[in-house]
Amino acid sequence: MKEIIKQLVEAYGPSGYEGQVTDIITELVKDYVDELTTDVLGNLIAVKKGTSGKKVMFSAHTDEIGFVITHIDDKGFLRFSNVGGLNILTLVGGRVRFANGTIGVIGKEKGDLKELDLDKLFIDIGAKNREDALEKVKVGDFAIAHREYNDLGNRIVSKAMDDRIGCVVLIEALKKISKPVHDLYFVFSSQEEVGLRGARTSSYAIDPDLGIAVDVTPTGDTPEAPRSEVALGNGAAIKVMDTSVIAHPKVKALLTRLAEAKGIKYQYEVLTRGGTDAGAIHLTKEGVPSGCISIPVRHVHTPSEMIDLDDVQACVDLVVAVAEDALADF
Ligand code: CO
Ligand code: ZN
Repeated sequence: MKEIIKQLVEAYGPSGYEGQVTDIITELVKDYVDELTTDVLGNLIAVKKGTSGKKVMFSAHTDEIGFVITHIDDKGFLRFSNVGGLNILTLVGGRVRFANGTIGVIGKEKGDLKELDLDKLFIDIGAKNREDALEKVKVGDFAIAHREYNDLGNRIVSKAMDDRIGCVVLIEALKKISKPVHDLYFVFSSQEEVGLRGARTSSYAIDPDLGIAVDVTPTGDTPEAPRSEVALGNGAAIKVMDTSVIAHPKVKALLTRLAEAKGIKYQYEVLTRGGTDAGAIHLTKEGVPSGCISIPVRHVHTPSEMIDLDDVQACVDLVVAVAEDALADF
């Protein structure tokens, strides 16, 4: 599993430009699915056909937070805006990578740290002047955080665990499901970080009977962390609510029952800031009972997001359990 994680987190995939990620996933899943399509927004949808007539949608997003160039000055320094929720404290001195491989360093103007905002930051690609910079980067180009993958043993740290680790969970789960009961739609969704956009159109097209997002959730287990019961290593997190969705009571009950029946370690998640694809799925058409299986991650939305492999395995097991359940209530 570590190899797939490394391959996916190292890929380039800011919101709207997820093609490199979906290409990798296509190669990894093509032998395990009945259908594989890509829609207009860049969602990759892998289908495994069942016989019950019920449709289950799982969704993990392929995009990562990033940077978009807004201006290039005469000296060749780049100004940028955020693509999704950048954490400003983690930017200064960090590096970014553009689609063409160009690397830049994030620098800051002088001034009070408390007043630091994106307007006071710039990217230095080592250009001599504007013309030189334009050889490598144009206004409107996207970049991602450039930070290496490190294997800490049972824990791994990298950029873009949000939500490539969710993609890994879906890939591992769909390899394990040999005789699907229901029509299973594994959506590798686009543009989550800018407002759950890919999940919205894919869910409309699929019109599922049950929707499950698989995404990361921050933990409350680091020094003076915002209050949260979620801890790294304590298992799959079953979402109760976040700011985009209140998990349907039937879905929360289903996930809890399956985790207990199969001996899968789990914890409940109440997230007071942030949303997931379930926020888009549950508002589709007349409404879809939806919930979320969350992978606990430390340092979310920094270039050093940390996961625990036991949690990832618990999430895989829970996705498989949902896929193989009779789903009598849905
Ligand atoms: Co995110
Ligand atoms: Zn996410």
